[in-house]
Amino acid sequence: MTDSPKRVLYVIGCGARPTADIPDFVTWAQRLGWDVCVILTPKGRQFTETDRLAKVTGHPVRSEYKHPDEPDVLPWPPDAFVVAPATFNTINKWAAGISDTLVLGLLNEGLGLDVPMIAVPNPNMALARHPAFLQSVESLRSWGVRVMFDPARFPLPKSVPGETSRSLFPWEALREEFVDASRGLSGRATG
Ligand SMILES: Cc1cc2nc3c(=O)[nH]c(=O)nc-3n(C[C@H](O)[C@H](O)[C@H](O)COP(=O)(O)O)c2cc1C
Repeated sequence: MTDSPKRVLYVIGCGARPTADIPDFVTWAQRLGWDVCVILTPKGRQFTETDRLAKVTGHPVRSEYKHPDEPDVLPWPPDAFVVAPATFNTINKWAAGISDTLVLGLLNEGLGLDVPMIAVPNPNMALARHPAFLQSVESLRSWGVRVMFDPARFPLPKSVPGETSRSLFPWEALREEFVDASRGLSGRATG
């Protein structure tokens, strides 16, 4: 475990195009005084420049569980989690308690930490109607996760691989949700 004098935010990205825009969210959160760490699913790494993210955050961008003999490289525990974008796959596996990526391991543990967690799922319109997905969203909400899934407010892309999934992503609404969720957090706050 490493310590940080600032509040620590884990920003988690998955295998979807909006992951490319995580750097802007990171710099915004840093301006609010957060020490931001980015963790990506292995698929998520294909959608962004990890070297740039490591430079901006000052932390390695992790995706794999560490070797048992390696030291922890990120501050732990975080004071908040943001999962944006959250894939159909990761939402369902998280709700099922599966921990087969580092991201899922952290998210599952996060449910037991009693810290704010926000997830912004990014399924396409068809996947968003899948009964397992709807059930996963409901479960995560019932466990206290702020799941920003509301196709009427946050329109979804028609097809998953399209560029639209990037332009539609509700970053501005996420910023508002994050400010609301982190209001009143104490801990190691400096900002
Ligand atoms: C170009 C491309 C774009 C994708 N976009 C999305 C997306 O927006 N939402 C989604 O749920 N899956 C999307 N996928 C599928 C996921 O990457 C795939 O389900 C993967 O297994 C997710 O792994 P992860 O949840 O560990 O990141 C996309 C795949 C490709 C190749």
